[in-house]
Parts: sequence; C-alpha cells; structure tokens
Amino acid sequence: MATNLTAPRDPRLIDRFGRQVRYLRLSVTDRCDMRCLYCMAEDMTFLPRNQILTLEELVRLGRVFTELGVTKIRITGGEPLRRRNVMWLFEQLGRLQALKELVVTTNGSRLAELAQPLRDAGVSRINISLDTLLPERFRRITRLGSLEKTIAGVEAARAAGFKRLKLNTVVLRNMNHDEIEDLALFALERDMDISFIEEMPLGVIGDHDRAAVYFSSEEVLRSLGERFSLLPSTESTGGPSRYYRVSGYEGRIGLISPHSHNFCADCNRVRVTAEGRLLLCLGQEHSADLRRELRGYPDSDEHVRRAIVRAMSLKPRGHDFDLGVQPVIFRHMNMTGG
Ligand code: 5AD
Ligand code: SF4
Repeated sequence: MATNLTAPRDPRLIDRFGRQVRYLRLSVTDRCDMRCLYCMAEDMTFLPRNQILTLEELVRLGRVFTELGVTKIRITGGEPLRRRNVMWLFEQLGRLQALKELVVTTNGSRLAELAQPLRDAGVSRINISLDTLLPERFRRITRLGSLEKTIAGVEAARAAGFKRLKLNTVVLRNMNHDEIEDLALFALERDMDISFIEEMPLGVIGDHDRAAVYFSSEEVLRSLGERFSLLPSTESTGGPSRYYRVSGYEGRIGLISPHSHNFCADCNRVRVTAEGRLLLCLGQEHSADLRRELRGYPDSDEHVRRAIVRAMSLKPRGHDFDLGVQPVIFRHMNMTGG
C-alpha cells in the first residue's frame, strides 16, 4: 500500500511532557566576524558551504514549522547578518501569514546598514549582544569586534522604530561584572530591555575557565539593587528571562540563569543549526537531520514535516549544565546562536 502522506488536520508539535513547541530558533550561519571568548575558540574551523542550508531550504523550513503551529522564529548564527543575501530570507519569512513574530539576534556589527531593511521586512524585535561599553574591553571579549560599530548598530535600530529592542549581556567575573549597572542604565535610558546571562558551558574553549568567571544572576540582582529599584514582573516574552520592572523606566531587566534557575519546564522552543540539524534542547545532543529530508525530497515538504513531528519524542525534559565537569556538549554556541 502506498504511504499516506497527507498532513494531519491539526498538526501541532507536542512533546512527551505536554509542552507545545511554538518557537523556532533558526541558525543561518556558523560564521561570525567576532570571536567572543565564551562562544568560540580563537581558531575555529567553519562548516563548508555545501553543508549549510541554502536560503531556499531555510524558507522551506520556516514554512513547514509555521504549518506545524510555530508562531515565532528567531534568526540567529554565528552572526546571521553576515550571511550573503540574508535580507531575502527575512523578506520571504516576513510573508508567512501564520508567523506572528519574526525576530533576530545579532552582534550589531551590520545593523547600521540593515536595521531599516529588517524593519521593512517585518522583523518586530532585535536582540543585540553587548557585554561592555569600554572599547578596549570590547576588543578583548570579542577578540575581533569594534564597540563603535555595535553602538552605531544599536542607534540605527532605535532610529528605525522597532517596538522593542533588547540587549544581551553575558556576565563574566572580573571581565565585565563591574559594568552591570552602567549597561543597565545604557539600556534603560534608551527604553530598551536588557538581559543578563549566566554563561553556558557549550564547547571546550581554550584556557577560558568557566567556573572561575561564573557570576550568578543573584549577584547581578544584588549589584543592580544598589542603583535601581526593581520590581519582579510576571511578564514573559516566551523566553527564559525572568523580568524585573524598574521604577522610572520603560525598559525591563531580565535574568537568564541556566545554572541557578532552571527554565526547562515551560520550554516552548527548538533549534535548527546552520547545517539543518534539529536540536531539541540547547543542553543535550538529541537531534534529527532535517537537511537529509530537505535534499532527499526537494519537491515535497511532507518528509521533513514528518521528521520534525517524529523528533518531538526526542525532546528531553531539560538540560543538565554542570560547571564542575568538562562540557558534555561539544557544539560551540555559534552552531546554535543561544
Ligand atoms: N553562554 C551564554 N551565552 C552565550 N552566548 C554566546 N555564547 C554563550 C555562552 N557560552 C550569547 C551571546 C549572544 C547570544 C547569541 O548568546 O552573547 O547574546
Ligand atoms: Fe559571534 Fe555572537 Fe559568538 Fe560573539 S557570541 S562570537 S558575536 S556568534
């Protein structure tokens, strides 16, 4: 008997723990024009181009995932805005009717040129990584980046009129923990949100000692409490941030605490790496090869759809990051974009 390939009526992505996946993080490149200490080794080998999903394949994935109930897509990297012709991808995804939110995470280096085109393509929010406001330090942490360019990107994004901009700061002891209040003020004065992130142990990174630079979200809160009056908020943007309102400001402060506060219970997301590997959890290796389905069946999305649905049974309950042991996850963050 021929296999019945018609799609089920109410296709939704629900895992073994009853969590519905509505949020896809799509990495469009593993390359980056920076080499942040906590993300990459200095000397990285990147994927050969034929292993990276084409822009057309990425659009197919976007379409299939929205047909399966995904309403939010975040484009990440590496540095997504360094991918050639990436604006075409944003324009195509921006046309998907079922997609409520199209958002992007970037290091800001190309935002000065691309903020307005992104807005025009239908991107509603941008997360910009910024760990320091000091030029020298910025160079030390990102190894290749320029603070000036990223700040110009932040200002361009503000000028383009995005509803909500957010800064992401990875807090590292003795590297930038003394700037927490300054970074918060920088964001709040510009009506932006800011999230302070505990570093996650992804990939082995040279002599960067993660336990030594670990700075907990509780310490971040204490430090912020000295300057601002914080009010815990029940709001959620569907992400792992715990938010605080700050009296006198529009912007909010978020804490992302993979170590001290596990957020897995309401996980609503999956990730696809630049080479088309569907990852069910940032902190685990369970995955499904979507590229094989896309390339094996260029004229039918049914196979990739089935592979995605099948993969839901692989989604683990949660991560188990542990700073005391060597990383069990060998992917670097540039494979998944956080
Ligand atoms: N732990 C936590 N955050 C990380 N990022 C990159 N590597 C790590 C890590 N090991 C952050 C970047 C950026 C986002 C894409 O992920 O700073 O904000
Ligand atoms: Fe590039 Fe972002 Fe990784 Fe830094 S954290 S190296 S900007 S991908």
